[in-house]
Amino acid sequence: MKKVIMDCDPGHDDAIALLLASRADDIELLGVTTVAGNSELENTTRNARKVLDYAGVTDVDVYAGCERPMMRDLYRLTGAIIHGEDGLGGPKIPDPVTPIKEEHAVDFIIRALRESDEKIILIPTGPLTNIAMALIKAPDIKEKIERIIIMGGAVNDPGNITSAAEFNIYVDPEAAKIVFASGCNIYLNTLDISMKAVFYEEDIERLRAQGDKISDIVAQLLDFFGSTHIQHFGFKACPIHDALCVGVLIDENLIEYQQTYLDISVNDPLTLGETVADLWGITGHEPNCYLSVKVDRELFVQMIQEHMQKTYQS
Ligand code: BDR
Ligand code: CA
Repeated sequence: MKKVIMDCDPGHDDAIALLLASRADDIELLGVTTVAGNSELENTTRNARKVLDYAGVTDVDVYAGCERPMMRDLYRLTGAIIHGEDGLGGPKIPDPVTPIKEEHAVDFIIRALRESDEKIILIPTGPLTNIAMALIKAPDIKEKIERIIIMGGAVNDPGNITSAAEFNIYVDPEAAKIVFASGCNIYLNTLDISMKAVFYEEDIERLRAQGDKISDIVAQLLDFFGSTHIQHFGFKACPIHDALCVGVLIDENLIEYQQTYLDISVNDPLTLGETVADLWGITGHEPNCYLSVKVDRELFVQMIQEHMQKTYQS
């Protein structure tokens, strides 16, 4: 069993990532931590609990984390446009009943890592504030982190906030810089691959036609997320960026990686939040991450379809 902590800001694709992780055979979800990003912390935390409750996942605790980036105000504009005012526009999912844990997400991450006999995989699918804070507060946890699988950044293709930057990294670039400088074993899934592993209308309809309540809610989430992508980007297909981070744990053939050195732009307004990779190795720095270079879209679509139906049956 792969032991996993998901750190997220649901968010449509975060919600689907949570559903995928909660029913994957080989994943033990130790806890879910939330961060401000796609919406305010109060909303992202409620949304995480809503989704887990809806799917009957009542044995995974949710811990609220940082309500703002380390050194900046929360960037609100695009999150609301893409995910709706409460961060999870579209389907009407009932309010959660499972209580939230009192412990702060950063303290939970530190405690879970320190107490574990085995190494743990962290999957951050929002701004990296909680992860950076945990690494600063307790550098000893590094040795307990098996890997960090991050959704963020764009290297060869443009960003989705500025032409240089992707949302998660742009919202808290200083946190991202700390994580990439930490020496942890990092896998970075960028927009370069997530915008190629998209769901087309027929994929969403096939999901809906499965007829169970989880497939149906995921189809509704994709209806909303897809519609905002058309309105905002003029892009007629729906990515599920965050779920790729879970998908690659289910089947490693999903994504191909290349080792590289990568740093985050934090001082230049034009490139703020850019994930700058030294692909030609000219800086002399040792690689500090595995950068995604290729994704198998068909495998991903099939994986989502199979796991959503399975969620309902089990
Ligand atoms: C990332 O930003 C958010 O809108 C999504 O949830 C995803 O994590 C994509 O840039
Ligand atoms: Ca997210």
